[in-house]
Amino acid sequence: MSIDATGPNADQIEFWNGDAGESWARNQQVVDAMMTPLSSAAVSGSGAGSEDRILDIGCGCGSTTINLAELGARVTGIDVSGPMLAIARQRAEVLKLDTDFILADALTYSFDSEYSLLFSRFGVMFFADPIAAFRNLAGGLNQNGRLCFLCWRPARENTWISVPMAATSTHLPPSEPPDPRAPGPFAFADKDYIKEILDSAGYKGIEINPVDETLTIGDSDDIDQALLFYERIGPLSRVIAELQESVRATVRDAVREAVAPHMTENGLSLDGACWLVHATR
Ligand SMILES: C[S@@+](CC[C@H](N)C(=O)[O-])C[C@H]1O[C@@H](n2cnc3c(N)ncnc32)[C@H](O)[C@@H]1O
Repeated sequence: MSIDATGPNADQIEFWNGDAGESWARNQQVVDAMMTPLSSAAVSGSGAGSEDRILDIGCGCGSTTINLAELGARVTGIDVSGPMLAIARQRAEVLKLDTDFILADALTYSFDSEYSLLFSRFGVMFFADPIAAFRNLAGGLNQNGRLCFLCWRPARENTWISVPMAATSTHLPPSEPPDPRAPGPFAFADKDYIKEILDSAGYKGIEINPVDETLTIGDSDDIDQALLFYERIGPLSRVIAELQESVRATVRDAVREAVAPHMTENGLSLDGACWLVHATR
């Protein structure tokens, strides 16, 4: 199954169906292990239960789709990434859970008003037009439906990424600071911006609360596990991929030195800082 990279989110559709999506699919287990404390906070914070009919937005490899279905709920995962959705389908099938998956853009897909809960773990920060996307998603909610999603607070509060990223800065060519609200993992870092989007998209009862957890990358004192993670997944992988091979080795060493003090016998241990967002129709 495939999806055309067209419409307002064409760039993101291409991105998540290219090397990035393939890499997330290959590294699903290490990502899930790292995200476990955040997933637990989001799933329990959502109040999901067996009576719910849930849409998991940007479900990726299906981890939270599975967590939610294990509560007895019927869960649909929607995502633009073919490679990640293939993993999600395989995993849910093995577990024989009440799930199904839609390969489509959540901004443009035509939903029936059937969901009691719109849920997401880090899958809603990539829309070219977030107001239009959340308005479209609201069309999927039933009368008493609610929204609950987890997104990252600013990178500087997320030492899992700010510590290694800071180590790269002196080795990179100067560039314009990126638009902090451009589609990407930290696009919803500003709480007021989230509120503005949801207000404009017609949501009520908006509540935005911090969630702080220690995140662990890898499962031993082997620092190379953590370094491989940074090369394969997330914002640092994009920076490293664009470097010339000669600079890459220097950057790898700088990242190794920066994260080394945070190694434990159970993996690299740093802070994760998120917003857990609730709203109703
Ligand atoms: C950071 S990943 C998170 C994946 C998963 N929720 C997790 O926590 O592992 C972001 C996900 O959002 C998906 N995504 C991005 N834009 C989307 C859109 N417009 N509609 C549906 N999914 C989208 C990507 O394909 C990717 O799977």
